[in-house]
Amino acid sequence: MSSLKTVAVVLAVAVLAIGGRYALLKDPSPSSTAAPAQAVIGGPFALQDGTGKTVTQADFAGKYMLIYFGYTYCPDVCPTSLQTMANALSQLPPEKVAKVAPIFISVDPDRDTPQSVGQYVTHFYPTMVGLTGTPEQVAAVAKAYRVYYAKVVDKNDPDSASKTYLMDHSAITYLMGPDGTFISHFSHDATPDQMAHKLAEVL
Ligand code: NI
Repeated sequence: MSSLKTVAVVLAVAVLAIGGRYALLKDPSPSSTAAPAQAVIGGPFALQDGTGKTVTQADFAGKYMLIYFGYTYCPDVCPTSLQTMANALSQLPPEKVAKVAPIFISVDPDRDTPQSVGQYVTHFYPTMVGLTGTPEQVAAVAKAYRVYYAKVVDKNDPDSASKTYLMDHSAITYLMGPDGTFISHFSHDATPDQMAHKLAEVL
């Protein structure tokens, strides 16, 4: 009868395993379901512009900020997002565009200098502001905006010595109000038309 007993034990374990798995799928841990009472996005920051001048959120007070985080070496995602921003702004009447500060913040301070970021944004839109800072300043603004970024580790070059690494990063464009509070955001696949429509509605 020992083999029957074995079968019974195996079955019981299988049922427990399946049941446990099902329970996990159905009932995620409380930490993943509990939403913060107020998901605050944004906040004070201090970075440098293309001239090396320190720029804070106070420099944009009274303007809507359209903010995107990325890096100048980005092969496709960042250029696409910044072009979308530029195309959306191009659809708006000048009096509305005047209310907006389009901002690109580099999350790659190891390669992007304030000067290179300032230069980069001129390729997209004349009034776009390019900012970056020390690794600590970049980490602080990314945290405030809940932006994820990380070097993609190349196993042949784990220390990124060749400086040819890619960055993983959030690809969200934030629309912040004249008082610096969050209004809306656009995903990477938002079209210029969708962005322009929303901006026209808000501005
Ligand atoms: Ni990018």
